[in-house]
Amino acid sequence: MEQRKVILTGDRPTGNLHIGHYVGSVASRLSLQEKGDFDKFYILIADTQALTDNADNVDKVKNNVIQLAIDYLSAGIDPSKVDIVIQSQVPELAEMTMYFMNLVTVARLNRNPTVKDEMKQRGFNAGLPAGFLCYPISQASDILAFGANIVPVGEDQLPMIEQTREIVRAFHSTYNCNIFSLPQAVLPENKACQRLVGTDGNAKMSKSLGNCIFLKDEPDVVKQKIMNAYTDPNHIKITDPGKVEGNVVFAYLDAFCKNEHFAKYLPEYANLDELKAHYRRGGLGDVKIKLFLNNILQELLSPIREKRKELEKNLDQIYEMLFENSKKASEVARDTIAKMKDAMGINYYKFLSK
Ligand code: TRP
Repeated sequence: MEQRKVILTGDRPTGNLHIGHYVGSVASRLSLQEKGDFDKFYILIADTQALTDNADNVDKVKNNVIQLAIDYLSAGIDPSKVDIVIQSQVPELAEMTMYFMNLVTVARLNRNPTVKDEMKQRGFNAGLPAGFLCYPISQASDILAFGANIVPVGEDQLPMIEQTREIVRAFHSTYNCNIFSLPQAVLPENKACQRLVGTDGNAKMSKSLGNCIFLKDEPDVVKQKIMNAYTDPNHIKITDPGKVEGNVVFAYLDAFCKNEHFAKYLPEYANLDELKAHYRRGGLGDVKIKLFLNNILQELLSPIREKRKELEKNLDQIYEMLFENSKKASEVARDTIAKMKDAMGINYYKFLSK
């Protein structure tokens, strides 16, 4: 039998999606959705994972569950093709995690580079929640519960996929079975899309740094953020030569600009290389490149914003869809748990005399 293709990916509901998410993950999800080369496609709203460092901030997580769902749908995720599921509404994931925890050492968890970075950012020392350290194990459950073998993620998630693969091997060898397929990470193709810099030139667009352009931002807010974006501090007069490297406007143009945009908004140039060359030479001002970028981003964001306004009129319908999907996902996860328990031999009820 040919292997089923199951795609699964997810996000923590801790804030609205921004254009960094758009190029980094949403765009590739949309293209996978359009290709249609899958048997099942799940997007998980990872609220349980978000709670591992927000235990006392449930309201934030709760509000962002629906926000994230609206962001996905307004950006073009089609609920007839993709199942958006709420992690906490699939309790089997927690049960799987308990069994997987016995197959992973604390030393191994402490070596996870992404978790290490996040611990540093959050200043966790003795106050490190056990749940946070263990979230890569629960992420393995997210992936394995639904038999996902294709996991489209950013680079920072590679350690989680590796951890999942190790859990698969450990489970198979410990319980002498072969029930999981090995998941494969799929990274975005365009290098410029793997990590979008913040509007302030900071290496990462991140809500906590306040340097994001959100998908839901109003047109004037988008424009203002672009006009204030970091460019080249030594490019003072228009005639000065300018630097393209480290220049936020060019970083965004690399990610979003297509040749058609020149014909439409800036016909003096044929493509981005010509624009960059002029900037480097001198004689091209920041306002001009910023207005060009503004046109491109407004064109991208305007239909998303319109769709959001429609969706916001009927939140109940979105919640119903999420609960329905989560219920179906739960059934799938229950089958997986049954297989796990059979392999482990904790299916005692089967020995009851009839
Ligand atoms: N850890 C991911 C993030 O922070 C979110 C996530 C949770 C996820 N479960 C997943 C991603 C399963 C891919 C697959 O963005």
